[in-house]
Amino acid sequence: MSNEIDIQRNFWNSEADAFEKIYSQDKSKLSTFLDRLFRKDMYERLAFTMKNCEPVDRRTFLDVGCGNGLYSIALCKKGAARVVGLDISPVMIERCKQSAQRECMEDRVHFVLTDLLEYDADSTFDISYAIGLFDYISNPLPVLKKMRQLTKDRAIMAFPRFWTWRAPVRKVRLKIKGCPVFFYTKKRIARLTQDAGFASLKVTRVGKLHCVVAYSGNRASG
Ligand SMILES: C[S@@+](CC[C@H](N)C(=O)[O-])C[C@H]1O[C@@H](n2cnc3c(N)ncnc32)[C@H](O)[C@@H]1O
Repeated sequence: MSNEIDIQRNFWNSEADAFEKIYSQDKSKLSTFLDRLFRKDMYERLAFTMKNCEPVDRRTFLDVGCGNGLYSIALCKKGAARVVGLDISPVMIERCKQSAQRECMEDRVHFVLTDLLEYDADSTFDISYAIGLFDYISNPLPVLKKMRQLTKDRAIMAFPRFWTWRAPVRKVRLKIKGCPVFFYTKKRIARLTQDAGFASLKVTRVGKLHCVVAYSGNRASG
């Protein structure tokens, strides 16, 4: 596992700039066009997460694998009482901290340089979410168990779908870059979330992703 963390840390340290540009669209017209075409899921999973975090006001959130902190800052702007973002990449966490400072939100948003499994939480959260994380986790069950343990109401997660044309292409492309990537069937997600202790599940197909809301108590099925 620690070898995996090292690989991920190095990968995301070097990709931080390129990753941020996908959101900011600070690119050539051609690259922006290609991102809109091939990375549409990234914008759609953001919309899915924000919708399923409602109502945001006065709630607390845990952002696992927070990247450059875009989601955490957005939730703070919507009135979240407290957001904690975790990431293993020092470059990403530094960017998060700069954003929080720029937006004068350091009293409500905190960014911690840690793997979730090592995170020593001092409280639980109304909602946790992990977006663009399970793609890079070879053993997701301990991560899901820890999310369940820290989540009072619901966890929101995006899993890349197994049966898509893009999965093998992405597998090869990221392998060349030295970054393993993993894909999921709906059946496996159901089993994993159940084994992690979530009571019920809502799975929505969003492009090449399964976007999931897993409830700590009995709420939904499908
Ligand atoms: C694709 S980025 C997603 C960032 C953000 N969630 C988003 O969607 O904008 C994946 C992030 O997960 C982080 N990450 C990977 N493995 C992790 C782990 N075990 N614990 C915490 N963060 C991790 C990486 O450093 C990277 O910043």
